[in-house]
Amino acid sequence: MSDARAFILDVRSQALLAQAIASAAALGIADALAAGPMAVAELADHCGAKPDPLCRLLRTLAGHGIFAEDDDGRFALTDGAQPLRSDRPDSLYPLLAGEFPSLVWATFGELEAAIRTGDVAFERAHGAPFFDYLAANPRANASFDRAMALVAATEHPLIAASYDFARFGTVADIGGGQGGLLAAILGRYPEVRGLLFDQPQVIDEPAELQAAGLLERCELVGGDFFASVPAGADLYLLKRILHDWDDAEAIAILRSVRAATGAGGRLAVIDAVMRPGNAPDPNKDLDLNIMALTGGRERTEAEFVALFAAAGFALDAVRPLPPPATLSIVEARPQ
Ligand SMILES: C[S@@+](CC[C@H](N)C(=O)[O-])C[C@H]1O[C@@H](n2cnc3c(N)ncnc32)[C@H](O)[C@@H]1O
Repeated sequence: MSDARAFILDVRSQALLAQAIASAAALGIADALAAGPMAVAELADHCGAKPDPLCRLLRTLAGHGIFAEDDDGRFALTDGAQPLRSDRPDSLYPLLAGEFPSLVWATFGELEAAIRTGDVAFERAHGAPFFDYLAANPRANASFDRAMALVAATEHPLIAASYDFARFGTVADIGGGQGGLLAAILGRYPEVRGLLFDQPQVIDEPAELQAAGLLERCELVGGDFFASVPAGADLYLLKRILHDWDDAEAIAILRSVRAATGAGGRLAVIDAVMRPGNAPDPNKDLDLNIMALTGGRERTEAEFVALFAAAGFALDAVRPLPPPATLSIVEARPQ
């Protein structure tokens, strides 16, 4: 078989495997087996499943090192199943199970139709723009926040370590979610003060700042970054914000930030910077993902230059973060 056929067939079967792993996480199988191996009937009873399909799910996953069946027909945890547990620091559960991952699965089913029509796949699947939907569905919003925090957890220490935040008195994280990035920065730079800005329902419980005990060094402001953001910070961060939006919306956000930025202020956009051409780049996969969810886009350096110019900023430098992060810090100053 040609390499091309083998590759495509492999990707096709991986799609079902991904759904199988997500189903196992959602059923809580790894949590149930944390106390020890269980027979399928007992496990099915515990997880609210039917024994035969559950057995076939586990048999499939066991062939990939996720769970293992013993000689007595009982299933047990393996190292490969540990990330499905919801109670471990290395848990992948928030990306696999819960309201937000379910929304994503249904969204991807609309990809072809969205490409034909130009619709946003999420809106076809769920009847509302992504952030409007989350604002109206608190459980989905909380599930999304947990997934974001998980993705960001490896990035935040890298960002704090690879950029000199000590130069800035106040760092404002615009759309900063639960405050994880500010927690990493304030934790590393004791002189810096933080300002966390996000939608009122998100800013309500900045779990990561609270957990780090850094709330007293941080002002919390709820609002809409299309309307305005608080003035006077020395550095404005926009991490994984511009990629959520199309160019007109991204320029509107940048204009809000520009209006708040004094002459000596700086902007650091932390986002994917796509390589031009055919080079393999995980950020191109991310581009398709964000197109389907929000109608946003990842951008090349040239596209950032154009966005900045339209909002009154000038690009200073693009600093790729060290692996495993795939994002870059894109620095700009007022024009
Ligand atoms: C993709 S998340 C990024 C969160 C965080 N910066 C990170 O990198 O983990 C986008 C954030 O933008 C916030 N957001 C969306 N629309 C907003 C608006 N109109 N005004 C303020 N924040 C908004 C969301 O609540 C969410 O926290």
